[in-house]
Amino acid sequence: MHVPEHLILLAPSANRVYAADAPRLVGAELQALAAGFGMTGARVEPITLAGVDYLGLHSDEDLDDTGKQLLAALSAAHAVFRREGDLLAPVRLPRLGHYPDDLVTIQKYQGKTNEQWTRLLLNVTAAATRTPGRLLDGGLQVLDPMCGRGTTLNIALSLGLDAIGVDVDRKDYEAYSAFLKTWMRQHRLKHTVEDAQLTIGGTKRGRRLTAQLAPTKEDFKAGGVQHLTYLSTDTTDLQGLVRSGSVDVVATDTPYGVQHGSHGDRLARRPLDLLDRALPEWTRVLRTGGAVGLSYNRHVAPRDELVALLADHGLAVADGDPDAFRHRVDASIDRDLVVASK
Ligand SMILES: C[S@@+](CC[C@H](N)C(=O)[O-])C[C@H]1O[C@@H](n2cnc3c(N)ncnc32)[C@H](O)[C@@H]1O
Repeated sequence: MHVPEHLILLAPSANRVYAADAPRLVGAELQALAAGFGMTGARVEPITLAGVDYLGLHSDEDLDDTGKQLLAALSAAHAVFRREGDLLAPVRLPRLGHYPDDLVTIQKYQGKTNEQWTRLLLNVTAAATRTPGRLLDGGLQVLDPMCGRGTTLNIALSLGLDAIGVDVDRKDYEAYSAFLKTWMRQHRLKHTVEDAQLTIGGTKRGRRLTAQLAPTKEDFKAGGVQHLTYLSTDTTDLQGLVRSGSVDVVATDTPYGVQHGSHGDRLARRPLDLLDRALPEWTRVLRTGGAVGLSYNRHVAPRDELVALLADHGLAVADGDPDAFRHRVDASIDRDLVVASK
């Protein structure tokens, strides 16, 4: 057996979320990140050493700073080791998070998309853009057009990114607005926040939450602020609300078409119809070279139909193993993701 140069110990929580599928899913995520970031020759494989499971990373070159950042960004890396003969040396990874971890973990509610899966979706989608480096340098503009109570928004903020969220369910908007305001206050973060009626051309379109925040007072004063916008409105009409060609990544967990995942809209029970109505707007706001990543339930949206729909809307789905990210959540959810670029 050829032991790889680097071994990644997965976070125990990954096994709780994905059970036996964790190494395969996180391995596919790492492979996608490595490809996106041009780590040619990188190969990922699950491996067991002394009875402990790892994800092995074979690579032609030693890990540079970007490689370490990628491993730090991985949705479920607990620790990374470099093999030195028969021994493993711990590798210190950079800390990517800009805020206390509770930004992502504190909210608990029915219908919340799992944090690790959301992180994985964002990573794999960013890797498919023409500018993946923006994931790590704070430049990636993220849109979650069906954001619920904001799992994607919080993960984007924690990575130093700007984010826009849209959801038609007013209760989700109110819960998120209350959460974010309280969280920024409790952590004494310098910020501005506005929660206002959204009126475009005299028509009431819902509400808009806008916040500007920074990890430290110094960052805030120096203008290093992050922008967060949450639009409480229907995602099929973003005219006048989100500029054309302004976002790098559209990443969302689509309605699962089952009771606990589909409040809000009648169309949410037929996700493909909803996507057909929403995709013209999502592709309009996406910049050329940007990517769309959708998490979906294969029981209600067969993969080939979804891929055809994305192509109808002018998006290109990358080749590759169509089952790489597929996994069973429960009897009613056969979860998968698909990524397409503009
Ligand atoms: C699977 S949930 C997303 C959960 C979210 N990722 C979270 O962790 O809170 C799907 C969301 O799609 C929203 N939705 C359904 N139809 C919509 C529409 N027409 N416009 C905007 N949002 C919609 C629902 O309100 C629901 O919050």
